[in-house]
This record gives sequence, C-alpha cells and structure tokens, in this order.
Amino acid sequence: MPNLRGVFVTGTDTGVGKTVVSAALMHRYRGEAPLRYWKPIQTGIEDGDDTSTIRWLGACAEEEIFDRGERLPLPLSPHLSARAAGRSIAVADLARLPSSQEGKHGWVVEGAGGILVPISDTAMMSDLMRQLGLSVIVAARSTLGTINHTLLTIEALRRRGIELAGAVLVGEPDPDNRAAIERFGSVAVLGEMPWFASLDPAALGAWARGCLDAAGLLRRFFRD
Ligand SMILES: Nc1ncnc2c1ncn2[C@@H]1O[C@H](COP(=O)(O)OP(=O)(O)O)[C@@H](O)[C@H]1O
Ligand SMILES: [Mg+2]
Repeated sequence: MPNLRGVFVTGTDTGVGKTVVSAALMHRYRGEAPLRYWKPIQTGIEDGDDTSTIRWLGACAEEEIFDRGERLPLPLSPHLSARAAGRSIAVADLARLPSSQEGKHGWVVEGAGGILVPISDTAMMSDLMRQLGLSVIVAARSTLGTINHTLLTIEALRRRGIELAGAVLVGEPDPDNRAAIERFGSVAVLGEMPWFASLDPAALGAWARGCLDAAGLLRRFFRD
C-alpha cells in the first residue's frame, strides 16, 4: 500500500478550481520540498488536460510532473469515460503507479470531479484517496451555495476516515461564507484565492507565496 507524502486536491464539483489550486500549491511549496504533480485520471483528454495546464500555470520543471495514469477521451465521469473506451479502471493498479518514482517528493495529486465520483463499477474517488494515503485539500467556490457543498464534502471525507488538510476558497472572497465553513466544518480555510482577470503563472505565484497557507499548516505533509 503506498504511503505517499503530500496532499490530494479534491473539489466540491468539477470546474471549481482544483487545477488552479494545485498549481498554486506548486508555487507555494516548491521552495520547501521537491514536489511532483500527478493527475491519476484525466477524462476529456482531447479537450485539454490538467497536466499541461499545470506545466504552464505552475511554472513546473519537467521533473515536477508525473504524467502517468488513465487518459480517457470522453469528458464524462471516469467510470463512464472508461467504459466508453472499453476499459475498466483498477484503483489498486493506479494507486501503485507513484511507487515507481524514486526519491522523496511531496505529491500534489489532483482528483477528477469530487469525492463520490465513481471511477469503476465498484470504486469511487474516495477509494483512490484512501489507497494513496494522502491528506485532502478541498477546493470550493467562495460564492453562494458553497457552505452546503463544502460541508457535505467534508462530512463524506470524515465518514470514510480520510484526513482533511484544509480548504481553499476560489473566487471573490466572502468572509461570512469562510467563517461558516470554518465553524461548522471544523476545517482550516488555507486561502481565499481571488478571481484573476488574467490568470497567469506570475500572478498566481505571487498570490500563492504571499497568501496561500501563510501559517504553513501544510508543511508537515510535504516534508519531514
Ligand atoms: N482564481 C481564478 N481566477 C481566474 N480563473 C480561474 C480561477 N480559478 C479557476 N479559474 C478558471 O476556472 C476554470 C475551472 O478551474 P479549474 O482549476 O480547471 O477547475 P477544476 O480543476 O476543479 O475542474 C478554468 O478555466 C480556470 O482557468
Ligand atoms: Mg482540474
């Protein structure tokens, strides 16, 4: 069973900012530990892939990228995208891939969709999280509706015994939503990422180094 160092970035939904939060984590922590980004399951590969986005947005060196795993054409839930490709995703095989990597990297692993997305007929994204043994960061919208979605995600993680490392809210900061998530979710909000008019590596890097996890709560996940 892999016992990786690092975090698993999930979200309350697809399109909430998991990739952008993952890129921000690369900027924030690469000065403290060698990091490696991994997207184990990429659907809709023909419309673009998060690994390429991270190479650019995270200003990543090639050794910071682990480009292995399920690469599926249709932009559907992983179990449906795999089925359409005539494949079936085996969670245990996927979870073993990082063990081929020498060295002590801090992993930034990005899920697909949210935690209860099926990845086969018998497994969900939460099973992959558990098998990788990583603590989880929840990317969530900052705006109306986020309290419910974020608390539901946190509750589902806790029910499954998955460690929660924190949440990052993406979009126009909303102090009341942040406070409600922290209070009812008993979770640290590690950052409130503004909506960038022009999202690029320099702007994201500056925000990440100055404002993401300023207290360094994630440090223990990335290094000894
Ligand atoms: N803080 C932000 N500022 C500007 N654009 C953003 C921001 N966060 C996310 N986006 C954009 O929103 C879309 C969805 O974000 P993404 O990180 O790809 O979501 P996910 O990985 O959860 O599907 C992308 O086009 C991304 O560039
Ligand atoms: Mg993504």
